[in-house]
This record gives sequence, C-alpha cells and structure tokens, in this order.
Amino acid sequence: MLLAAQEPILIDCDPGRFTDDNAAIAMLVRSGKFKIAGITVVAGNVWANEGLRNARATLNMMDVEDVPVHLGAQQPLRHTAEMAQKEKPLEFAGAFDLRRPRAEKETAVDFLIETLEKQPMTVLAIGPLTNIAQALQKKPSIAGRIKQLVIMGGAVRVPGNSNKTAEFNFWFDPEAARQVLESAIPRKVLVGLDVCNQVAYGKDVFDAIVTGKAPFRHIFREQFGYGFPGFLKDPKAKAYLWDELVAAYLIDPSVFTKSEELALSVDETFGERYGAVRIQPSGAITTVLLQVDAQRALNMYRDLLK
Ligand code: RIB
Ligand code: CA
Repeated sequence: MLLAAQEPILIDCDPGRFTDDNAAIAMLVRSGKFKIAGITVVAGNVWANEGLRNARATLNMMDVEDVPVHLGAQQPLRHTAEMAQKEKPLEFAGAFDLRRPRAEKETAVDFLIETLEKQPMTVLAIGPLTNIAQALQKKPSIAGRIKQLVIMGGAVRVPGNSNKTAEFNFWFDPEAARQVLESAIPRKVLVGLDVCNQVAYGKDVFDAIVTGKAPFRHIFREQFGYGFPGFLKDPKAKAYLWDELVAAYLIDPSVFTKSEELALSVDETFGERYGAVRIQPSGAITTVLLQVDAQRALNMYRDLLK
C-alpha cells in the first residue's frame, strides 16, 4: 500500500514534563501524517533548557529517534521575571516563577533558518514566539519559506489567562508576538483562547487516556492527575485543549468551523494590557479560528492519546 507522503513540519514549543505541548507532539507523531523535521524549544512554561529535556523525553517515550531537538531562546525579547513580579499577582507565570538556569548555547534559530532554506514547510508555534521572532530578525527572507505558521496564542475577543487581557504565550513575550503577527509570513493561523475556551473536558477523557496503552500514560496520569488540572485531586476538575488544538488543526482542519481574517498586533505597553491582542484597521492578516466542533476535537485528542 502506497503510504501517503508524510508532510514535513517544524514544532516550536515550551514543554513541561507532560503538558499540552507534549500532548500535541504525541498527537502529531501518533497521527502518522507528519515527518517532524525538528523541534525547537523556547522559554515559556519552563526555562528552555528544561523544556529541551522534556521534549527529548517525550520523543524517547514514543521511540522517535530521528527528530533533532534544539535549544532556543532562554529569555523573552524584553519581558523579565523582575517585570513580571511588578504585575498583578498572576495565577501562572511559567518560567518566571522558576530559578533561572545558567545560559547555554542556543542553536534553535539557526536550525529553523537552515531547515526552512532547504525546504519551505509548516511551522507550529505552541509556546511564546521568541524563537520565531529572532529567526525573522536574523533572516527576514525566511518569512516566505514558512508555508503557514499555526500559532497557539492570543485572546482576540475573550479575556486573557495570564492577566485580564493577555493569553500566556503572548504575555510571556509580547514583543515577539507583535513582530510575528505583523511579519510577512504569508499565512498565519491563530488558535487562540477564542476557540480553546470551547473545548473543555473532564475526568472521563482523562480516565480513557490513563487506562489506555500509550507509552506516556503514566506521566500523563501524574501530570494531569496531580499537576494541572489535578483530576486525581478533584474529580470535578476541568481542562481545556490549548496546544492540542494546533495539532488537531494540522491533522484535520475541518474540525474548525468558522474563522475570520483580521489584521492583528499585540500591546507592548508594560502594564495591564501587556501582551493583549489588538485588532488593527489594516496590516498583515492573520486567520483567527473562531469556532470548533468541540466533540470532534475531543474525540481526536482522546483517540490519539489512549
Ligand atoms: O495559554 C496556553 C498556552 O500557554 C499553551 O501553549 C501552554 O502550553 C502555555 O504555554
Ligand atoms: Ca505551550
């Protein structure tokens, strides 16, 4: 049987031990539809060196050996832990709440540039956009080599989850988010909280995964059971699909039923709106996903992870 050629993709992420980033990577690997040309890691949920270890561990659990993983930006373009401490107490400040590691050599930006210069392809950005912004700064021409950039980030017409107006990935590095949304990348697709908020799930989905056969089911149980959202501490806990919806979009875009073309920017003013999405009267266009068939998305998530 002629196997359909696997589409090459790049994944830029900020994986914890097993968070939504890892689940999204697992969905893409287990879908069998993609050849992951490489994974680049950025500071976000955790500092980038920890994220690098977590990304490698997730691939190893699935016996995936031929995917290069590169260390990316260990700091956002401007935002710092000191600045974050001046903001209103945040529920989740990601790496800013963690002890900062010693600096290491970053190879992700050069890897992104080299890979895209060899072959144009789709890029998934499921963490803060620092690596993507730095690659565009270093080699603006790679904008035309990104076939489409599918971004988990932003909150266009719904409240933020890191402050009242900003979603975490955009809040962690607002300057990078603005540069990427205003860039010349020909097709940008935004999987923001506007659709993520439509896909909540409870312990029944968690149970289906942890009682399945996936090689990562034990760490999934530990992280989603006792970490966030803590299904084994509170059986009524609720989780949302975030990065996993970017994977779902790649696997089957028809799961998303409505979108809107908008010129977007991001607020860089330090303060309450730092990282908020701004709709512009004109400018670079982003396809904002507005509606999703939540049951189809959840079925795909559960069936690919159990
Ligand atoms: O707001 C959700 C985003 O922040 C996800 O990418 C999650 O992994 C965190 O990085
Ligand atoms: Ca993420």
